[in-house]
Amino acid sequence: MTAVISATGLWTPPNSITNTELVASFNAYVERYNAEYATEIAAGARQALQPSSVAFIEKASGIKHRYALDKEGSLDVNRMVPRIPQRPHEQISLMAEVSVKAAKQALERAGRDPADVGAVICSCSSLQRPYPALAIEVQNELGASGFGYDMNVACSSATFAIQNATDIIRAGHARSVLVVNPELCTGHLNFRDRDTHFIFGDAAVAILVEHVDMAPPGAWTILGTRLKTVFSNNIRNDFGFLNRGDEAHRDDPDKLITQQGRKVFKEVIPLVAEMIIEQMATMDLKPSDMRRLWLHQANSNMNRLIAERVLGHEASQDEAPTVLDVYGNTAGAGSIIAFHHHNADLKAGDKGLICSFGAGYSAGSIFVQKAG
Ligand code: COA
Repeated sequence: MTAVISATGLWTPPNSITNTELVASFNAYVERYNAEYATEIAAGARQALQPSSVAFIEKASGIKHRYALDKEGSLDVNRMVPRIPQRPHEQISLMAEVSVKAAKQALERAGRDPADVGAVICSCSSLQRPYPALAIEVQNELGASGFGYDMNVACSSATFAIQNATDIIRAGHARSVLVVNPELCTGHLNFRDRDTHFIFGDAAVAILVEHVDMAPPGAWTILGTRLKTVFSNNIRNDFGFLNRGDEAHRDDPDKLITQQGRKVFKEVIPLVAEMIIEQMATMDLKPSDMRRLWLHQANSNMNRLIAERVLGHEASQDEAPTVLDVYGNTAGAGSIIAFHHHNADLKAGDKGLICSFGAGYSAGSIFVQKAG
């Protein structure tokens, strides 16, 4: 056991959107669309749009509100896209800025001088630009040393990066590695799509992974990690730099997130539960050893079923805390937000699991134990 999670940090935008506000905006759009195309709809040449509902969202997902970078632009029926003004090169870029906010909190909590950080990994489901790497901008802004790079594993971005950080420490390339996971999900969310408009929210998290010799009080030892990927088109975002080569399809809805939610639900539950159970057997861990599961926050029903398979009984909120109701799905940040809010009450020796899952498919498990 070489590495620990020394501390975590969290940033959220100041404003949040309730289901009622979101549905009011969506349904105003539907009404307008159906009125505009009434003749075509009546002639059967176009399909009428169906309204969204608060009751459906809460029952199907467990989400009640989500933080949003630009509430006004996202809800404005004339726009339904967050307003994110382009910044000059001299100014810090938005994703680096929110990463630095989360990172400063993690560093402060660990009592760590930023200059002692030897590597920065920025890992998230959508990167603002291909280069220069956001991680290098974060490294520069904090005054960290060493090196930085970006990576993307969709909703498993944070857990995959924690394993990378652990490997960096184990190999001796750095002793203190800062992982930042800025998830500005409303930027790739289609607020005009009834199937997905309610799912995502914005947040950034930071995880300070360090050599066990540097562990501050309250640190969590990383006992073991396990990553798994299985290709699937069921959660997909085709936005990319090659899109400009085909003007006819550049702005199609598949350039934002699309998913076959029901298929994802059915396929991901067994994939994740089996991965966890196999890894527990490898590490000689019994269900009763697992004091808490900090699961990816995509759907409360999915989490209930995964936790039940892993623990062998229905998990309480204490055993598998949910933050989905407040934050929505924040992609890679979800399991870390659950960990951030719900780890301080555990005692030395308690074991738990941080687990993410999502597009790819990808799934990442980080088994941890509270240090003495
Ligand atoms: N408001 C009201 N009704 C809606 C709706 C909305 N916003 N969206 C869909 N519906 C309707 C559908 O049209 C369907 O109607 P029908 O039965 O008449 O055909 C019905 O509700 C059920 O739709 P379905 O898509 O099957 O719902 P669901 O129970 O599967 O819930 C998700 C949808 C997306 C919440 C759920 O599938 C899910 O969370 N899946 C996992 C997704 C996931 O984890 N993704 C990972 C991302 S990291």
